[in-house]
Amino acid sequence: MKPVGIIGLGHYVPQKVLTNKDMEKMVDTSDEWITTRTGIKERHIASKYEAASDLAINAAQEALKDAGIKPESLELIICATVTGDMPFPSVSCLVQKAIGAQNAACFDISAACAGYVYGLITAKQFVASGTYKNVLVIGTEKLTSVVDWQDRNTCVLFGDGAGACVVAPVKEGGILSTCLGSDGSMGGLLMIPAGGSRNPATHETVDEKMHYIKMRGNELFKLAVKIMADAANSALKQAGLDCKDVDCFIPHQANIRILLAVAKRLGLDTERIFMNIEKYGNMSSASTAVAFYEAVKSGRVKKGDIVVLDAFGAGLVWGACVIKW
Ligand code: COA
Repeated sequence: MKPVGIIGLGHYVPQKVLTNKDMEKMVDTSDEWITTRTGIKERHIASKYEAASDLAINAAQEALKDAGIKPESLELIICATVTGDMPFPSVSCLVQKAIGAQNAACFDISAACAGYVYGLITAKQFVASGTYKNVLVIGTEKLTSVVDWQDRNTCVLFGDGAGACVVAPVKEGGILSTCLGSDGSMGGLLMIPAGGSRNPATHETVDEKMHYIKMRGNELFKLAVKIMADAANSALKQAGLDCKDVDCFIPHQANIRILLAVAKRLGLDTERIFMNIEKYGNMSSASTAVAFYEAVKSGRVKKGDIVVLDAFGAGLVWGACVIKW
């Protein structure tokens, strides 16, 4: 297999920021509770005129510029999202049109918070097999469109944003190993019950708030810690590496206490974990994407570094990959 890596990165977060202090005026909560229980201080909120594709387009354009390639050179666009503009067309098709990537095939994937890692690993297969040379992967979410703003258990946790990368053949390094997994039996822990074919939108589903995120946070917390640590270990083992070889660990940003517990389980010191949850909250598929972008662009990740991306989400689904930058 030819080496496959990331040749460009992009991101976008909406302008409007909602702080914990703002949230204190909306639900019975406090900056102190949110900060200590989650690590979140603020989150970005898309306007009513911005949908998931608008965030994605901005991130995609930056990734293409960073890669130094034209949109016409893209052969595939994979978009990970659970908050697409509409059931169809897909967000990837909307992005294709907007950026002028007329030669690209397009599809979306639904793997919740692990979507970007799922997309990256899927893209890698297409490039490694020689089917395509340039694949654009995007994680984009407008989670605030599916949040119940009266439910303090969930509304303080989520935010909006998008991250993107271009996956292509590289001379050396790149994506060294990957790990994907799922456990559908735990699907009830995190879901949006209505809006699909099971419970199409009716006055009743709206009145019963069935179009919003329902979450059993405590149970998810414990599973997330174990599953993310196992996924990282499995990908590292496949690459013939160990936790001590990791220069930068970039986990899905769901809760700072989850990240610290995963790191402890892996035996990683805090300096090696990349965390930006404070600024954004949980942006589902966009979380790992934006964290990856910021880790590289801030200089935290240097050439030759071993990076681990690790994500977990509704489904349940999870994925990890080891990258030599
Ligand atoms: N402000 C103040 N109090 C709040 C609150 C808020 N925003 N949200 C919940 N509480 C209260 C609860 O009502 C509960 O009160 P009670 O004891 O009187 O019933 C108390 O805080 C403790 O709730 P609990 O659910 O035990 O808190 P926790 O320490 O488990 O933290 C989460 C809650 C949601 C932050 C945490 O469980 C979590 O992050 N889980 C994982 C979520 C996740 O990762 N989801 C996405 C997966 S990709």
